[in-house]
Amino acid sequence: MPHTQSVEHIPVLANEFIDALCIDPDGTYIDATFGRGGHSRMLLKRLSSKGRLIALDRDPDAVAVGRKLEAEDSRFKIFHHDFASLEEAIHDAGWHKVSAIGFDLGVSSPQFDQPNRGFSFQQSGPLDMRMDFEHGQPLSQLLKHTSEKELAQVIRDFGDERYAMRIAKAILRAYKTNEMNTTLDLENACFHAVPKQARYGGAHPATRTFQALRIWVNDEYGQIKTGVQAAMKHLKPGGRLAIISFHSGEDRRIRDMIEEEVNACTCPPQFPICVCGRVASMRWVQKKPIRASEEEIASNPRSRSSLLRIAEAVQVDPSQTDPGQNDPGQSDAKQMRGKQMRAKQ
Ligand SMILES: C[S@@+](CC[C@H](N)C(=O)[O-])C[C@H]1O[C@@H](n2cnc3c(N)ncnc32)[C@H](O)[C@@H]1O
Ligand SMILES: [Zn+2]
Repeated sequence: MPHTQSVEHIPVLANEFIDALCIDPDGTYIDATFGRGGHSRMLLKRLSSKGRLIALDRDPDAVAVGRKLEAEDSRFKIFHHDFASLEEAIHDAGWHKVSAIGFDLGVSSPQFDQPNRGFSFQQSGPLDMRMDFEHGQPLSQLLKHTSEKELAQVIRDFGDERYAMRIAKAILRAYKTNEMNTTLDLENACFHAVPKQARYGGAHPATRTFQALRIWVNDEYGQIKTGVQAAMKHLKPGGRLAIISFHSGEDRRIRDMIEEEVNACTCPPQFPICVCGRVASMRWVQKKPIRASEEEIASNPRSRSSLLRIAEAVQVDPSQTDPGQNDPGQSDAKQMRGKQMRAKQ
């Protein structure tokens, strides 16, 4: 059942994101993370009556807001899908290639601010943290079956937390004695697990652990891998991919996935010509990520850590991907084309 409390979400880097995506008013668009629809509404304003937008969100509360927009605007459709199922949504819409796809990762303000979702240590809530509260296992269930070693690895890998093992031990100790039932219990365990000198002065000692556990509960990195790969596959030539991330673990993964398509050739740099035959399917629209301005940060502190990356699909010349390129008998001219393509990126 949807939660009724309605909290605002201020979209970050909104103009930059929409400018990056909107290349054709008559085009077909996907907002992979609808949230409260701030970005979707802005995009719809830029589209003509022929333009179409579909949006996805795994959170039933977000989808409920999307249904209202669907009723108001016939150019728009919402799907209750996670974005790892992007391909399915594209097929369900009867589309194949689209003009642009946008992702605005992480949790929305309503998710974060509603204690019953279990994302925040500011107020007491259940140990849940699922973006889709109708599916999957809440944090409380995952803790039941995890070992100290596995939990410490999650906290270290997804939260970059140096006291990961101490925190994991403290969480499971409290869990076993039935003293780990709420987000405040979790916050308390993190606080007391770190050395005294690490408790004050910087970010709250529970910050990194809460982020890590949220990524774990929602398989966020698995979602990004499948979703972004599907997105790159379904762009028209010149079609745009714009992704907003909020921490280095997300940004690094996104940058590397796009970079792999931009610098597709895997030949060692000392090779005079390309022999692998892999050609770029994407190019950076802007090599450096875009950050929020001081002005935006002052009015919306959540934008402080946001990073926007923009890339576009390039037309792949079928002759460039001809498997015959690996044939030692291929013409020099064809081999040189591969090399030239590589040099351009
Ligand atoms: C930062 S908010 C997006 C806000 C939105 N751009 C707006 O203007 O309101 C992120 C949203 O993405 C959704 N989300 C996160 N990961 C997802 C995934 N793997 N699949 C689908 N939705 C996801 C969350 O449920 C949340 O509603
Ligand atoms: Zn090569």
